Amino acid sequence: MPSPRPFDLLIQGGTVIDGTRAPRFDADVGLRDGRIAAIGDLAGQPAARVLDARGCIVAPGFIDAHTHDDQALLRQPDMAFKVSQGVTTVVTGNCGISAAPLPPGTPLPMPLSLMGSPGHGPFPTFADYLDALRAAPPAVNVAALVGHTALRVGCMASVDRPATDAEATAMRAQLQAALQAGAIGLSTGTAYPPAMAATTEEIIAVGQPLGAHGGLYVTHMRNESDAVVPALEETFRIGRELGVPVVVSHHKVQNRQNFGRSAETLDLIRRTQQHQCVGLDCYPYTAGSTMIRTDPAMLDGRVQIASSVPHPECVGRTVADIAAEWGVPQPEAARRLQPGTAIYFLMDEPDVQRIMAFDATMIGSDGIPLGDKPHPRLWGTFPRVLGHYSRDLGLFPLETAVWKMTGLTAQTFGLDQRSTLAAGHHADVVVFDAQAIRDTATYDQPAQAAEGIRAVVVNGVLAWHAGRHTGARSGQVVRRQAA
Ligand code: ZN
Ligand code: CU
Repeated sequence: MPSPRPFDLLIQGGTVIDGTRAPRFDADVGLRDGRIAAIGDLAGQPAARVLDARGCIVAPGFIDAHTHDDQALLRQPDMAFKVSQGVTTVVTGNCGISAAPLPPGTPLPMPLSLMGSPGHGPFPTFADYLDALRAAPPAVNVAALVGHTALRVGCMASVDRPATDAEATAMRAQLQAALQAGAIGLSTGTAYPPAMAATTEEIIAVGQPLGAHGGLYVTHMRNESDAVVPALEETFRIGRELGVPVVVSHHKVQNRQNFGRSAETLDLIRRTQQHQCVGLDCYPYTAGSTMIRTDPAMLDGRVQIASSVPHPECVGRTVADIAAEWGVPQPEAARRLQPGTAIYFLMDEPDVQRIMAFDATMIGSDGIPLGDKPHPRLWGTFPRVLGHYSRDLGLFPLETAVWKMTGLTAQTFGLDQRSTLAAGHHADVVVFDAQAIRDTATYDQPAQAAEGIRAVVVNGVLAWHAGRHTGARSGQVVRRQAA
């Protein structure tokens, strides 16, 4: 019998959690040609390189279900803030914000100006953006959504009103082209000024090509506060009329008067799931982060400035503190700090835990890779769920935690053969110490790599090892396999 071709990498002696929520088991994992070649007792089999995983968990690389990494992938292609957490795939283009398609010279309103740009590009077509990623591959895989707000900005003379039929037709054609080029779906951000005026009908008109292309509909809903239930109903209606799965982004119930209402929203989601496909994601923190806003409901709790173009010296301070110093009301202080990003303490811990533990909830960081003091979720999300929530608080077993960042996410987004460990699948793998894993990023010191991540492999290539980035950039553009 001919001896088998050596593995490129043999991960030896670890305990496998395969991403399907099945119980863990001891096994070696052999990788070859960017794929998982074998799982089992592989002792003595030849390998170009052996990684000792004794005492560690070997799991599929994590998929970050919700990111704003569109430009970071090109600007900071080593993606250390994600790779260091064990993330091997990011879903981009969320909340209506994508780097493409955007015609050259288009003036960008917030939040597009903050999260979609400035940076590389412009990318007049979605294909241009994906080509740029392929030409200069980042360290992680990318599954990209098209942002409805980007389409609006590119196709409408002014975005403070609903689209005309002609404008909706133009947006629909852009979406169609993007899906053909490899986009996995459409995102909206109707909570933000440049998309607030969009009607449900406009979104349905624009989203028409999704069904035929197997795309999905992902939304930062119009409201996550008092009117969260009508916002959910609108989301479900869009999914039904388009005949596509929907994903509710960073699900939350914010502002004090809504604390506890996640029981009601999750119940509604559960009932709706009986007859249509509904997914959701969340991040493991009670504070959110987005552009600096002046609406009183957003200034309700503690608001910490994460970045400010006119007042960089204010980063890390609260709006209340700055307003007092300037002798102006908080909304006026917030207005003067624009454009920029802030951290908003608007959620209740029991809601965060209830949503995270809900069966269909995926983990998504919603990290904003901007400024010196970003929300700690940018660096800490995945280790925080594994360490703090699963191990320390016992919110769910480790197998469930891993599933919420791998198998469930791959299933929800249709990312075939990725993020469950099985022979033949893409070799995206993370090795971590379940006892040691811990997020170290805090609101004061947010840019800190987590502890306990031993190795991260992207398409068979070691990207993170022994607390260091290897410099590898083996990420690929990933397409959706519709069910
Ligand atoms: Zn959002
Ligand atoms: Cu977002």
